[in-house]
Amino acid sequence: MAGMFLQEWLLPGRQTRGAPPSASLPVQTRIEAMQQDGRIDGRTAAGYLYQSGGISRTIRGARTCVDLGCGTGVQLLQVAALNPAIHFTGVDNCQALLDVAARTADARGLSNVTWVHDDITRPARLERGSFDAVIGTMCLHDLKDVESLHRCLRSAAGLLSPGGAIYLEDFARLKHPRSIELFVHRGHVQGPFAATGAPSDPFSSLYRASLRAAFSLRELRDATSLLPGARLHATFPVPFLCVISTPDRGLEPAIRQGLSMLRTALTASQARDLADLARAFALGGFTKNVFA
Ligand SMILES: C[S@@+](CC[C@H](N)C(=O)[O-])C[C@H]1O[C@@H](n2cnc3c(N)ncnc32)[C@H](O)[C@@H]1O
Repeated sequence: MAGMFLQEWLLPGRQTRGAPPSASLPVQTRIEAMQQDGRIDGRTAAGYLYQSGGISRTIRGARTCVDLGCGTGVQLLQVAALNPAIHFTGVDNCQALLDVAARTADARGLSNVTWVHDDITRPARLERGSFDAVIGTMCLHDLKDVESLHRCLRSAAGLLSPGGAIYLEDFARLKHPRSIELFVHRGHVQGPFAATGAPSDPFSSLYRASLRAAFSLRELRDATSLLPGARLHATFPVPFLCVISTPDRGLEPAIRQGLSMLRTALTASQARDLADLARAFALGGFTKNVFA
């Protein structure tokens, strides 16, 4: 990773934005990706757990929360299980992904989530001002362009009740294609490789497309001004991930305990990933310890 830090820091260059995964990968590939290495305990388990901590702190006290671009619900279902007093609405414009999410929720006996098919840039089935919190993980990079990003954030602000909480997390675009490949290779264990020597299993393909489609940090920073009371925090020294959120409200003891149990279930390498991620966000000025 040190090589990646140096090339992102020292070398000039800017990668142009790639097509969003929902426009470039078949839905079946995206479902397989999320059911294989993208599982809650898969290659990005540390990332899911970190975000579940950050989300739970930010939305504390909310009774209703909408998750924008929930996909197969991997992140949302962990957050919903940790926060049983909150009713969640998962929104996506892909019915096949929502069907997977709904089946998983049923299999886990989770009854505090409702699924809605809608466009998060022009929501027609969500009532304005009816949510105490709006969250979204890894959904912004899947939007078509900067105009859609702005429409989505304006709509998000409109869905909130007064004083509502916001937590949006996503990639920020890296400068170099090689940095993206380093991320994709990291944690890749035994999937197939393409002729280029790059991992080509469904999750690697989705991960690569997502990193390429990320908005730049500047585009995300500019868009943050559309969300009253929210600030953008990026990982440091390389801003590859960012969180746009309203202030931290701390953790309820029961949720701290739930997170702590999930942490103890991480493998040694996932626990190292979690420590690295927490350090990178803390260096970027975000909450020092999402689990405290
Ligand atoms: C990378 S997935 C993120 C899924 C989930 N939030 C997670 O963290 O696992 C991005 C999701 O955004 C959805 N999406 C993209 N554009 C959308 C739009 N305009 N309206 C609703 N959902 C959209 C896609 O269908 C996809 O499920």
